[in-house]
Amino acid sequence: MSLFNHLYQDYFPDEHAWSMTHEERMAVIYLLKLIKPKISLEIGSEYGGSTRVIAHHSEQVYAIDIDPAVEARLKPYQNVDFICGDSKVQLPKLLDSIKEPINFILIDGDHSIDGVLADCRNILTYQPEAPLYIVMHDSFNPDCRQGMLSADWGDNPYVHHVELDFVKGHFSAFDKPNEMWGGLALAVMKPTKRTTSLHIVQTHRQLYEALLPQSIYYEYNQGFSK
Ligand SMILES: C[S@@+](CC[C@H](N)C(=O)[O-])C[C@H]1O[C@@H](n2cnc3c(N)ncnc32)[C@H](O)[C@@H]1O
Repeated sequence: MSLFNHLYQDYFPDEHAWSMTHEERMAVIYLLKLIKPKISLEIGSEYGGSTRVIAHHSEQVYAIDIDPAVEARLKPYQNVDFICGDSKVQLPKLLDSIKEPINFILIDGDHSIDGVLADCRNILTYQPEAPLYIVMHDSFNPDCRQGMLSADWGDNPYVHHVELDFVKGHFSAFDKPNEMWGGLALAVMKPTKRTTSLHIVQTHRQLYEALLPQSIYYEYNQGFSK
């Protein structure tokens, strides 16, 4: 039995259905076990790997993906409602239409700066009625990280924690020379207002900044605020 099958046999039969490292998968699975979400949202499902895990631990999942081919892949999951379209358009409508408290969101859709920023901004319009855990994939990718850092987390009093390196990312992995990908950011919103200012934690900022000049992103990222 492969390591993959050994570790994940409860969740999915196909290793290639999901685009996260083992650390990221373990973190998502453990978070879901802790949170026990009733309602979860996913932005970006692709082959349904992460969707399957979220569906396993949630009562109801709403999954948005711009690719119409995703719907057929998610058909086997009874508790997943698929919404086809751009999350910039679909997410605000979905957040408005869900009447029960949302407990868990995975952002893993449009990986451009503007795409990530739009998803974060739309989520920041949501008023949580229960603790809401927001996981953002690829926080080690310079575009995604910049999108995450550009969101006005501190202006929203219901945001209690933001950690960009909840799980740290990787460099030159998976046959992508000098590229920076992976990593999970985690934000926590609560129904009560926080009483102190918000500090965005970047546990592996030094590692990120040491690798950035050696990456393919360096030149066009020189203007990035850090
Ligand atoms: C990296 S994959 C998601 C992987 C999946 N979360 C997993 O871990 O198994 C990104 C997905 O986001 C979708 N996507 C890209 N831009 C999008 C957008 N603007 N709105 C919604 N989905 C988008 C793509 O079609 C693709 O399926």
